[in-house]
Amino acid sequence: MDNRVLKVENLSIKFPGRNGLITVVDQVSLSVNAGKSLVIAGESGSGKSMICQALLGIVPGAGQVSGTQIDWRGKNLLGLDEAGWKSVRGSEIAMIFQDPTAALNPLITIGTQIIDVIRTHKRCSRSEAKDRAIKSLELAGFTEPKLQLGRYSSQLSGGMRQRVAIALALSCEPALIIADEATSNLDVSIQANIVTLLHELKEKLGLALIFVTHDLGLAAEIGGDLLVMYAGNMVEYGPVQSVLDNPSHPYTNGLLQSAPSLNSTRDNPLQPIPGQAPKPGTLGASAPFFARCPVAVDGVCDRKRPGWTDVNLQHQVACHRFELDKHGAKQ
Ligand SMILES: Nc1ncnc2c1ncn2[C@@H]1O[C@H](COP(=O)(O)OP(=O)(O)OP(=O)(O)O)[C@@H](O)[C@H]1O
Ligand SMILES: [Mg+2]
Repeated sequence: MDNRVLKVENLSIKFPGRNGLITVVDQVSLSVNAGKSLVIAGESGSGKSMICQALLGIVPGAGQVSGTQIDWRGKNLLGLDEAGWKSVRGSEIAMIFQDPTAALNPLITIGTQIIDVIRTHKRCSRSEAKDRAIKSLELAGFTEPKLQLGRYSSQLSGGMRQRVAIALALSCEPALIIADEATSNLDVSIQANIVTLLHELKEKLGLALIFVTHDLGLAAEIGGDLLVMYAGNMVEYGPVQSVLDNPSHPYTNGLLQSAPSLNSTRDNPLQPIPGQAPKPGTLGASAPFFARCPVAVDGVCDRKRPGWTDVNLQHQVACHRFELDKHGAKQ
């Protein structure tokens, strides 16, 4: 049986600029299965949040979303109208944002907020909704979930607030949860607890999970597949362990050197990738990472975009250098 819940093919997102459309996400294809996870990693501005927003139909105003399809359990989400998105957003695909404080209303109790969300999406009585809210809080790791119902977000720590945001996301029993930098504002130990929780929930509830992060070290904790994005382009895609064991794109290598959770115990300091990502719309015909690449091939990487090369059957990389080395090694 095909248990793929989400299959995105050639998703592009463009914004109108002074000299025409500016591409911020360029032909991204990905898929996630039930009970599995996909980590999307990349520096600031690489298009991670844009992809997530396209999956929820919330790309900001002037953004133009196009592609072959966003297949969601047999339904194409591309071109859905707002009424169609409302039936998917929150109840089938839920999002956990970076800042739980912004997602929670400080003037309304936690219980009322979760119950209201449930009753917006599901036809049920207030007492049924309350039972669901308690169950969601319990799933989100609260040992005394009933006690939380009467609390206000200001009475909770940052980690507890993020657990409430997770309970909110779980409350309508979605099939996919998107966590966009959901742990990056938290202390390292709390971050680890939230990552463990998300990992467990995925297995326990058969949820599909998309986890967005700057930090490749966290990808290892989440598991599943890893998509590395650079300046709106996919550069490497494969099982997390395969990508971490055999990083095949120079950008992935650079990210690994600068991953705090992988390198914090080592003596050597973190090594940020020199240079800056190109501004949207300035990429030209070269390989996206060309201007910062320490192993660029003259006359090749500056001239054309790379296609995909297999690292192994499940793991692909878009890099001229890798392709040339692979073919050279065969001769
Ligand atoms: N409303 C908008 N109008 C035009 N361009 C935008 C808009 N919002 C974001 N962008 C551009 O889209 C690109 C991708 O942004 P996105 O927010 O997806 O990056 P990100 O990978 O999530 O970065 P971060 O790690 O900082 O969250 C960026 O270059 C950004 O400048
Ligand atoms: Mg973002």
